[in-house]
Amino acid sequence: PFILSIAGGGSTYTPGIVKSLMMRLEDFPLAEIRLYDIDESRQNTIAPVVEKVIRDHSQSIKFTVTGDPETAFSGAHFVFAQMRVGQYKMREQDEKIPLKHGVVGQETCGPGGLAYGLRTILPMVELIDMAERYADKKAWIVNYSNPAAIVAEGVRRLRPNARVLNICDMPVAAMRNMGAILGVDRHKLQVDYFGLNHFGWFTRVLVDGEDRLPELRRHIARFGLLTEDAAQTDPQHADPSWVKTWRNIKPIMDHFPEYLPNPYLQYYLMPNDIVAHQDPNYTRANEVMNGREKKLFAAAEEYKRSGILPDAFHVGVHGAFIVDVACSLAFDLRQRHLVIVENKGAIANLPYDAMVEVPAYITSEGPEPVRMGAVPLFHQTLLMQQLASEQLLVEATIEGSYEKALQAFTLNRTVPTMQHAKAILDDMIAANRDYWPQL
Ligand code: G6P
Ligand code: MN
Repeated sequence: PFILSIAGGGSTYTPGIVKSLMMRLEDFPLAEIRLYDIDESRQNTIAPVVEKVIRDHSQSIKFTVTGDPETAFSGAHFVFAQMRVGQYKMREQDEKIPLKHGVVGQETCGPGGLAYGLRTILPMVELIDMAERYADKKAWIVNYSNPAAIVAEGVRRLRPNARVLNICDMPVAAMRNMGAILGVDRHKLQVDYFGLNHFGWFTRVLVDGEDRLPELRRHIARFGLLTEDAAQTDPQHADPSWVKTWRNIKPIMDHFPEYLPNPYLQYYLMPNDIVAHQDPNYTRANEVMNGREKKLFAAAEEYKRSGILPDAFHVGVHGAFIVDVACSLAFDLRQRHLVIVENKGAIANLPYDAMVEVPAYITSEGPEPVRMGAVPLFHQTLLMQQLASEQLLVEATIEGSYEKALQAFTLNRTVPTMQHAKAILDDMIAANRDYWPQL
């Protein structure tokens, strides 16, 4: 049985991930679960909830809660990483500062994602170093930390040999919705997909060898990538703002019907629409703080008082997916999953060393990307511009370069002019002074 450490143990996602683990103990046996966080007070609030989830399924799994890296990682076989540098208070800044300048306010797309990248790359590398120092030599770090595209590129540059697999639940969430629409379990879908994280397209959706994309296209033309009543999405994506996000796939496919876009492309392809519908004083960060966060903290409180744990956390593809990936790594299952990997020719007309999101067979030595061939000029061009923006941001972080940061902001499709880029960057430098390297 494995020792698993969850870095970012105080996340509101932790109970859902642990619940997914408990549902899969036969496939992924566990001797110990350790929570590690630098915010010990937050982690101590969540920990009793996590412990209860474990004890409902197992008396034998050891449970450890710590702020000490050595205790957290010694001998660990797996590390699940989900850090949020600056927490929701900084997510709020990532979203509100661009909006103040009339630009999309989003935690991973546009200037918000770039700012979050500048905060996260170096702490992520620190976490990798600590894990490598103490964990089992064959340990895998499975990383959900955002902004995943930039974090993946930063890790590739700074720790190219680390056993880190970067993942995102968005493609698999899209597959869940496809399955719900088609009436097929998502595990029965085999998809082709190319792109960068939060910036890609599905090109085929096979069920028993038959491409069901034409059928999905007809459905999306009416409802977006959601079932008609939206009821079959899991709770993580049931908020009205997420429902809108899934529905917004429709206008993109109305214009470019060939491939099915990752929903995040709406921020790059129709930024004006998005900004027009965003409230600059109340963004997604506020929704999450007042929704998901409050609900779980209240449940923790209630559990402490009454011993009864209200059903207040999300169990869905987010937790299921990371467990699937870990199983495939652990037992060399070679399952096909959409993950973030070094390109190495998988997308023939993108750079060999770009960090791309494509299907890969997950072996115990890591992902083996599947070849998606060359992509059309339109998509290649969008991808190259986004890639350049993200790579410059990584270089800005490593070199402490203001100029490269400004180039990264200017190249981002959500940013209309270099003057916008500079104004936003300067506001962000002030807001991030406790977190960014000196530019
Ligand atoms: C999806 C994305 C994540 C992102 C999350 C935000 O799951 O894959 O990268 O962090 O959405 O969701 P939230 O509910 O916090 O806005
Ligand atoms: Mn993601």
